[in-house]
Amino acid sequence: MRARVAPVVTSVALVVGGVAACSSEPGTPGPAAPAPPPTTTSSSTPSTTVTPGPEVTFYRDVEPLLQRHCQGCHEKGGLAPFSLATYASAKPVASLLAAKTLARTMPPWGAIDTAECKPPHPWQKDARLTDAEIAVFQKWSQLGAPEGDPKDSRSRPVAPLDALPNKDLEVQPRTPFVAAGDRDQFRCFVLDSPVLEAGAYIGGIHVVPGNRNVVHHAVVFTDPGGALAKRAGADGSWDCSSSANAAMAGGGAEPGQQGVNLVVWTPGYLPVDLPKEIAMPVAKGAKLVMQIHYSPGGATAAPDTTRVQIRIARDWPDYLLFTTGIGNFPGPIGANGDGLQPGPNDRTSTPEFRVPANAEKHIERMVFTMPPPKPDASPIWVYGVMAHEHLAGVDLKFDLEKKGGASSCLLQDRWDFHWQRMYAYDAKVAALPRLEEGDKLKIRCTYDNTMKNPRLADEMIARHMSEPADIVLGEQTMNEMCIVVPQLLVKAPPKP
Ligand code: HEC
Repeated sequence: MRARVAPVVTSVALVVGGVAACSSEPGTPGPAAPAPPPTTTSSSTPSTTVTPGPEVTFYRDVEPLLQRHCQGCHEKGGLAPFSLATYASAKPVASLLAAKTLARTMPPWGAIDTAECKPPHPWQKDARLTDAEIAVFQKWSQLGAPEGDPKDSRSRPVAPLDALPNKDLEVQPRTPFVAAGDRDQFRCFVLDSPVLEAGAYIGGIHVVPGNRNVVHHAVVFTDPGGALAKRAGADGSWDCSSSANAAMAGGGAEPGQQGVNLVVWTPGYLPVDLPKEIAMPVAKGAKLVMQIHYSPGGATAAPDTTRVQIRIARDWPDYLLFTTGIGNFPGPIGANGDGLQPGPNDRTSTPEFRVPANAEKHIERMVFTMPPPKPDASPIWVYGVMAHEHLAGVDLKFDLEKKGGASSCLLQDRWDFHWQRMYAYDAKVAALPRLEEGDKLKIRCTYDNTMKNPRLADEMIARHMSEPADIVLGEQTMNEMCIVVPQLLVKAPPKP
């Protein structure tokens, strides 16, 4: 849960849903943090008029917020392109900090509460600022970014958000890979690790892309008995472009994949850091394989060596976690009315996935009904949820409709391709949403296929495209997707 530092400041509370209101309105919000009274201690002040110090200063009010919410990325070598570690680095960008926090685009966070979506639990590591915290950045900027007294500083080192805490090992492909050409490339790499091949439970995992400009996604999965790894050449990798169809149907990353996905990394994804009762199994003799989707965009990219950080679980887990995909149905499936749903722009009698050129709020929907479980199967709980679309995507809503009819919204993500995160519920396992036979999972994807969509426009300009074209479902960056990637839990086998 987020702690509120002070009562909501009303003029800022009007800003919801991530759209920046005009920030120069005259009725500016007051300071929000419980600020000490203006300094009157200086007995050396000669006159009777005491000049109060600024209401908001860097060291007293702003620095603590930067440490708590920003420096995990905005530090030297961090995820963000510039540091916010000192007064000297923050002062010149004070108005930018005010604007981006008011617009709620920083810190990055896509899982929103809206009139149509109230997720069932709070989120772990909720990064959203309170209205009062946003007001501090506003006021500080309006006052001209006063420094205040360095003695107020409680500066301390901040752990980088883009690294797995307490990692035990790091694995990587045997050789770097050079992506090139107009078409996106899919490559599978064997990740050698004697420790994991001996059998292990993984308690934390994170993918660190080598060349962020071209790594579109990375799926790390287990390969029981090393069956798929035999496809690798001497360099430990192989072309796995044929995987496109399997992934589209929500199956594994590579045809013939028997093992489970440990992590599906996409830009903006932060480490999976599991509590001690939850872990991911790697069976004895299994290999780890990583499929990377490269999007070279016509150029020859700098070599990529993407690394995977791993923490071994210390305790025998109560629950096992795996990551799967639901969605991306190219048409109707099964007899339940599942799969791609009819849409407003369909040109055929069967549903068609097509985001017409220049359509601004185009919607596609996917439905999946939970099949009967295998005998003696464990219950299934939803631990985390991640949306996935490509550049035209602007919103994804994911609902669970129980067999009895009760419906709840599991996630609404105001989609941003640069910030694809797994949102995990902050709740006890027993209270997590359950997936049971007959339950319907419903995905609604919204797209903006116009030049007004900045993510799409940037990519089109890079590809020398002058106007939007119809977008179809597919694996290429310029295709679209509509899929949810949940982390599911099942009961772990008892400790032997
Ligand atoms: C999870 C990592 C992360 C966190 C946390 C984070 N940022 Fe950022 N920030 C970035 C990255 C990466 C960029 C570069 C642009 C992008 O990719 O969106 C950025 C860009 C910015 C920009 C420039 C935006 C522009 O359009 O020029 C500002 C201002 C900013 N961040 C402020 C903040 C503030 C203030 C906080 C804390 C309240 C914060 N950020 C927290 C990662 C982060």
